[in-house]
Amino acid sequence: MEEIQSIQWFPGHMTKTKRQIEARLKLIDAVAVLLDARIPYSSCNPDLRTLFNNKPRLVVLNKCDMADAAQTKKWLAQFHQNQIPAIALDCKTGKGFHAFIPAVRSVLEDRIRQWESKGMKGRTIKVMVAGIPNVGKSSFINRLAGQNRAKAEDRPGVTRGNQWYTIGKGFDLLDTPGVLWPKFDDPLVGEKLAFIGSVRDEVLDTEQLAGRLLLYLRDHQQQLLCARYRLSGEEIASIQGSELLTLIGKKRGMLMSGGVVNTERAAAAVLDEFRGAVIGRMTLDLAEEYPNVRI
Ligand code: G4P
Repeated sequence: MEEIQSIQWFPGHMTKTKRQIEARLKLIDAVAVLLDARIPYSSCNPDLRTLFNNKPRLVVLNKCDMADAAQTKKWLAQFHQNQIPAIALDCKTGKGFHAFIPAVRSVLEDRIRQWESKGMKGRTIKVMVAGIPNVGKSSFINRLAGQNRAKAEDRPGVTRGNQWYTIGKGFDLLDTPGVLWPKFDDPLVGEKLAFIGSVRDEVLDTEQLAGRLLLYLRDHQQQLLCARYRLSGEEIASIQGSELLTLIGKKRGMLMSGGVVNTERAAAAVLDEFRGAVIGRMTLDLAEEYPNVRI
């Protein structure tokens, strides 16, 4: 089966985006690195890690409502053990947002003290919000900016994703466009990014992707998979991904003329249900498998 890695998915504009981010680093005090709580390792862009090397950083594990809560706890403990400041939240309910401003202040503690000693008490703190596409950057900023979504900068020609937002309490946030990186050393990383929808489906074969996702779920989350699609462990034990997709389409009555299963529809349904955590909350990158993660 063709691997995700071999698909031409890295859009050229992302190189430009990376350069834009680099150019803005001098304007900011800290970076909020948004990661997807379902794949904290795979959603961490190694290129951004290099770029942000000299900037104070805070990891924000977003979409916690869709991740396994016990795993999120383990990930947070692991980040803290590795001296990486990290918080967990979700933009759907707003859970965990109260910790954001205190966490940034704590990351910048020494600097704030320096500013104060130079008479710059109450200096506005500028935070860049960065992460891969679809990780929830806009949702995160919208929640923080809330009703007072006053843009500090809203000039024509400023592209979406490079704007300043004033969120009050002495904080400005800089939105940045999502960036991926050109090569996945571990093909499973690319696959997980495609599963959660951070690689645009238009550049992927969605039936193949859904088939691979189903096999992944069979091997790692069999109970949830079987419960959702009324499958038994035996009937899926030694099945191909494409066969599993067909089986699900059949069970769902997704048939075309002649009784042929509409696998395209079945694939869209499976991917949608996985991405919306309808199959269940789950974490694909287990904390114990990535003990030395860096950001
Ligand atoms: P981006 O700027 O990083 O590209 O991400 P964006 O905020 O556009 O969010 C991408 C998708 O993820 C959106 O769904 C958004 O609603 C969803 N999302 C963001 N944060 C969370 C979260 O914490 N929990 C859950 N469950 N979903 C989250 P969409 O289907 O693309 O759009 P829509 O549902 O907002 O219409």
